[in-house]
Amino acid sequence: MNETKLPPVLSVRDLRLHYFTSKGAVRALDGVSFDLAPGETLGLVGESGCGKTTTGVALLNMPSPPGRIVSGSILVDGTEIVGMRDRELRRDVRWSKISMVFQGAMNCLTPVYTIRELMLETYREHLGEGGYDSAEAEERMGRYVSLVGLPAHVLGRYPHELSGGMKQRVVIAMALFLEPKVIVMDEPTTALDVTVQAQILDLMLALQNDFDSSIIMITHNLGVISQIADDVAVMYLGRIVEYAPMRELFKHPAHPYTRGLLNSVPVLGKKGKKALVPIEGMVPSPTQDIRGCAFASRCKDATPRCLEEYPEFRDLGGDHFVSCWL
Ligand SMILES: Nc1ncnc2c1ncn2[C@@H]1O[C@H](COP(=O)(O)OP(=O)(O)OP(=O)(O)O)[C@@H](O)[C@H]1O
Ligand SMILES: [Mg+2]
Repeated sequence: MNETKLPPVLSVRDLRLHYFTSKGAVRALDGVSFDLAPGETLGLVGESGCGKTTTGVALLNMPSPPGRIVSGSILVDGTEIVGMRDRELRRDVRWSKISMVFQGAMNCLTPVYTIRELMLETYREHLGEGGYDSAEAEERMGRYVSLVGLPAHVLGRYPHELSGGMKQRVVIAMALFLEPKVIVMDEPTTALDVTVQAQILDLMLALQNDFDSSIIMITHNLGVISQIADDVAVMYLGRIVEYAPMRELFKHPAHPYTRGLLNSVPVLGKKGKKALVPIEGMVPSPTQDIRGCAFASRCKDATPRCLEEYPEFRDLGGDHFVSCWL
């Protein structure tokens, strides 16, 4: 989608990931395509269950069971990772080319290991036992811990000795550790109180300047998106329904779902009161077979065509794309 920009570091085409449950296949990703340019921050937004986390883990080819990538292509820095073996993925791709701050990871740090031990684990797996040099690792850990604004003694602490904000910084340091080209951040500010949220956001803005890594910022918080994203992809039921540069998306949302999302949250700093309008209805089940537009059942302007035919992406110009017949 970014023909005018540098060649992408990440190129995703028609990606499908299904969870094969006893109740049928959950089509969590049903044809996702996008490109990510070097140094770009892409915001990925949408309601709960639309497939944001699934997109993130798919990009590391790390679906949680019973999930499986059924088709599509993911080029990470020119390497096709769909179909790659787990061993190669661990050695050559995960953490070194693309890493992820998992949703809620700060609350899942194994309590019996110190931060140093947890970080070494990431490092060791990548270099293998033979290539591991403790002095180098120690220097590097110190560098990354300080980069995320923590004192070096944190390395000797256990997770339960740290505050939520500190743990989130540790998790971000771990994702940066091997200097990946792409970092996926899944709701990195969500579980934190507002002041710590602001600190983490400031940290990420600073990191954006210091690194040339590209970031995929997954969040349902449009305020975070407006501060950090260059482009935004709006997901609905396993598909991207709108893609645009951030300002363009906020100013001229083209998809009724995007407009619904924007109308259902308060926007700070906007003059005048605007009534908040929630999006009516429920997201259809991802096990359901939907022929037309997945949003049609909730869209007040839907036409018979919307129910019958799937709307392919339309180019509105200026890197703005929408999947809508209206
Ligand atoms: N391990 C799993 N097994 C079965 N279904 C799953 C699994 N993980 C996710 N799903 C389903 O896949 C769909 C997408 O889930 P996903 O976690 O990607 O959503 P999300 O957009 O990240 O939501 P949230 O905003 O709540 O984090 C949902 O319908 C969810 O129920
Ligand atoms: Mg999620």
